[in-house]
Amino acid sequence: ASTLGAAAAQSGRYFGTAIASGKLGDSAYTTIAAREFDMVTAENEMKIDATEPNRGQFNFTAGDRVYNWAVQNGKRVRGHTLAWHNQQPGWMQQLSGSTLRQAMINHINGVMGHYKGKIYAWDVVNEAYADGNSGGRRDSNLQRTGNDWIEVAFRTARAADPAAKLCYNDYNIDNWTWAKTQGVYNMVRDFKARGVPIDCVGLQSHFNSNSPYNSNYRTTIQSFAALGVDVQITELDIQGGSATTYANVVNDCLAVPRCTGISVWGVRDTDSWLGSGASALLFDGNGNKKAAYTAVLNAL
Ligand code: XIL
Repeated sequence: ASTLGAAAAQSGRYFGTAIASGKLGDSAYTTIAAREFDMVTAENEMKIDATEPNRGQFNFTAGDRVYNWAVQNGKRVRGHTLAWHNQQPGWMQQLSGSTLRQAMINHINGVMGHYKGKIYAWDVVNEAYADGNSGGRRDSNLQRTGNDWIEVAFRTARAADPAAKLCYNDYNIDNWTWAKTQGVYNMVRDFKARGVPIDCVGLQSHFNSNSPYNSNYRTTIQSFAALGVDVQITELDIQGGSATTYANVVNDCLAVPRCTGISVWGVRDTDSWLGSGASALLFDGNGNKKAAYTAVLNAL
């Protein structure tokens, strides 16, 4: 195969990228994105502040731009994200308690209703666990509505669009030995045991010197999969762009049947949220394939 998407499809997987609506007029960008990837995540356009800028008033203009570009180019779409402490609109940041809980439910229903039947998988809840050694929940306005907010979000999501896979997505849950990984693992195990609807875990996989790739990544993927959920690598970027590390990530996913796909968090280094100096993606700023690209293509 000569593209990332086609190479991943050889084993029934997908290879995706984050797409920014503001770049869809850049033909160098869209040429690469259309050619190489077969799954799309809106980098910001389906987040809470974008889709419900005023309480009860939904706006899908930018989200639909990304969605339509993807579908017109034959790609599937991951939805990102419905319940998160970041990129909340001002009105939501001000809410608490049962009012916020109901606003979260209304938001999930509004956004999933709009895209009903059209999304491969939704990141229903994003980044709900704390960094560091606690293994517990992150403090946030959503968490302060009650510890059951995550399962309420998932139950709401299942009813809103039964066709979408429902994922829990987070960063720094790649290293199996980390408390945060264990915290999320225990939550997923509990959800499966109690019948709370969850279909997948998204490993964001933003690797850098503080949270480097570790060879126990494969154990992490295998362990989540053994709970009966799919695992998706949802926001992969590697600071410094090591070709070897990129190949390791691909090999670890391919070693686990329930690791169903990989998405990188941007197309070219100049598109990366980390800035081009991080050299974290598979294409350089001129759209040239980097060594990391070749390593990924060969590993797939
Ligand atoms: C980032 C986007 O890439 C940036 O454009 C934006 O300014 C901030 O959010 N984890 C996530 C993503 O789940 O939504 C974040 O995306 C990167 C970290």
